[in-house]
This record gives sequence, structure tokens and C-alpha cells, in this order.
Amino acid sequence: MSKILVTGGTGFIGSHTVAELIEAGHTVVIIDNLSNSEEHVLKGIEQITGKRPIFYKADCANANDLSRIFGEHPDIEAVIHFAAFKAVKESIDKPLGYYQNNLLSIITLLQVMQKTKVNRLVFSSSCTIYGEKAPLPLSETLPMTPTTSPYGRTKQMCEEIIADYVAANNQFYSISLRYFNPIGAHPSGKIGELPLGTPNNLIPYITQTAAGVREELKVFGNDYQTPDGTALRDYIDVVDLSKAHVKAVDRLVNGNSSTQLEAYNLGAGKGISVKEIIETFEKVNAVKIKWSFAPRRQGDLPSIFADASKAKRELNWEAKTVLGESLRNAWHWEQKYRKLNK
Ligand code: UD1
Repeated sequence: MSKILVTGGTGFIGSHTVAELIEAGHTVVIIDNLSNSEEHVLKGIEQITGKRPIFYKADCANANDLSRIFGEHPDIEAVIHFAAFKAVKESIDKPLGYYQNNLLSIITLLQVMQKTKVNRLVFSSSCTIYGEKAPLPLSETLPMTPTTSPYGRTKQMCEEIIADYVAANNQFYSISLRYFNPIGAHPSGKIGELPLGTPNNLIPYITQTAAGVREELKVFGNDYQTPDGTALRDYIDVVDLSKAHVKAVDRLVNGNSSTQLEAYNLGAGKGISVKEIIETFEKVNAVKIKWSFAPRRQGDLPSIFADASKAKRELNWEAKTVLGESLRNAWHWEQKYRKLNK
């Protein structure tokens, strides 16, 4: 069992991954600056696993803090790097902040890893790196093409920075995990998605509308070339997604990677429309969502879904949770969270 450093470990995907790592027997050190998460997440992880992860409130773009933390844990074997800004629309409005945060973090992290000779990295990437023109289903063999947002470009650049570093260091092994649309919450209801302010993503907007926090859901675009006119996405359960990180870490630490640089798509392999999401949510949770159509959102693509066969072949990972269950867990989490914070 290994000691794993997780940046962004109190965030949505980070927290679920920390829980899975601990359940698998690993020791976890979290670094998070809490810019988009809260410290009570640690309590939720502890309630699920019986163990509290080691936590540092720190920014991984700060080389001094990062060096000190690596110094206190000389037995770190691998890093999972989640810490990043992730809102597409916000990145269009604030490009410099996105480049500064997302690029400085990866560069600083790699520099400190180089200094401390930690040579295993799992990088939190996105399907957005394939760009606007890529043919569906998206497969890892496709090259990156121009993407629609600064957020997407930071993910592309991070992958390129990692590739350049791998080329310069024959001891360094890295796996990029390219997520499609992560949704859901831990079935225990102890951790889940917790966007600060108005949510950008579909599922938290739906759960907050159902909870009465938001007046109405706007469905962006009804004129896409899709069966019902609304956009198609490949929704992947967050617990399934987290398990892939444990497999990726194990592959790196056990020396099973055949090449120094790998990328895996993590999706369910199916395009689901916004309308189908609303209908399924209403059905499995027996609630009604108030919604109406609005114009297309800037930067959105009509349809995105994965060819996730490489992850199945090489990581022995595949999506297992059905959509209705993810949407039930998301609603369960939202209700529990609202009750606790009344
Ligand atoms: C985007 C990124 C993805 C990133 C994710 C993280 C792209 C292509 N995808 O996903 O890489 O990891 O953000 O934030 O850049 N929708 C509504 N009403 C709403 C919110 C969303 O109709 O209030 C629709 C969107 O138009 C979209 C779908 O729901 O069709 C999913 O949207 P969202 O959850 O924001 O994720 P993406 O934009 O697909």
C-alpha cells in the first residue's frame, strides 16, 4: 500500500477518489486551497472510511508550501493532480486567471516532484481536449484539435507540459484520465458535489432547482442536430470515476505501464440528452423540475461521448452505475446537505 498525495482532494471528484484510495488501503495526503470546496468534506470521508486523510490547506502553485509538504512526507509514491479551475464559461470571461491557476499549479508540482524524485503522476484531464472537430465516439488515438474555451486549452497545455517532462525524464510515468461528464454522489450521502455560488454544471443546477434554491432550470439550446434537439453528453458516475484513479495509481506504482505516458477516456460510452436527464431525474426521484428552453450556451458542443474501451482493456475499468442511480444519489446528497445546513 502506498502514500498518495492528492491535490484538490476536497473537491467533487477528489473527495470521492480519496475515499476509494483509503478503502483500497492507501494512505492519503490532501493539498487543497479550499477555493471551491469546504473542510467539512474531510469529516464525510472519515465517516465513510473510518480514517481521516492528512490535510493541508495550501495552494499547489506555491512552491514553498509544496516543497515543505513533500519534505514532511518523503514516502509519497504518487500524486493525483485534481486541483484546477473547471468552469467553461467562467474561463471565457476570466482567461488569465485560468491560465495562471491551472498552468502554474502543474509546473510547480512537476518541479517539486522532480526535486523530490517522485516519479508517478495521475493527471485529471477532460474530454474537452479533443476539440470541436473530433469524430465521435472520441478515442484516445485522436489528436487534440482546437477547443472552445480557455479552460479546455489549459487541459491541453497541461497534457503537453507533462508529455515534455516525460520526454526529458526517463524515470517519470504519467497517466492522464480524460473525464466525460462526472455526476452523482457517494451512495452514503456523506460526500457529493458542492459548487460554491450558482452551479455551472447541469446536475447540481437540477438538484438545486428541485430543492427550491433555484427558480428554474434553463435548458441551453433546443435546435441541436440530436434526436430531441438538446445536447448529448456522456455522463459518468463519480464513484465509478474514482475507482479508475485507484486503478491508474496501482498501475503506475506497480510498474505495469508499458509506456511512460498514457491517456484513458473515462465515460459510459453513451450520449444522453439534457431532456433525458431531466426526465430520468424526475422519474427516479418522484419530483418535478421547473424548466424552460434558453439559447445555446457559448462554448457548448452538440454531442460528446466516449470510446472507453482502452480503459476497459488496460485498466480493467468500466462504468457500472446506471444513470438513474447516479441521479438518485445526487438528489439524496442535495437533500441531506440542505437539511444539515438549515
Ligand atoms: C464541461 C466540459 C468538461 C468539463 C466540465 C466541468 C466541454 C466540452 N466540456 O462540460 O470538459 O469537465 O464542463 O465543468 O468543454 N446545461 C443546461 N443548463 C444548465 C447547465 C447545463 O442545459 O444550467 C446543459 C449544457 O448545455 C450541456 C449539458 O447540460 O449540454 C452538460 O453541461 P455541463 O454540466 O455544464 O457540462 P459540459 O459543459 O458538458
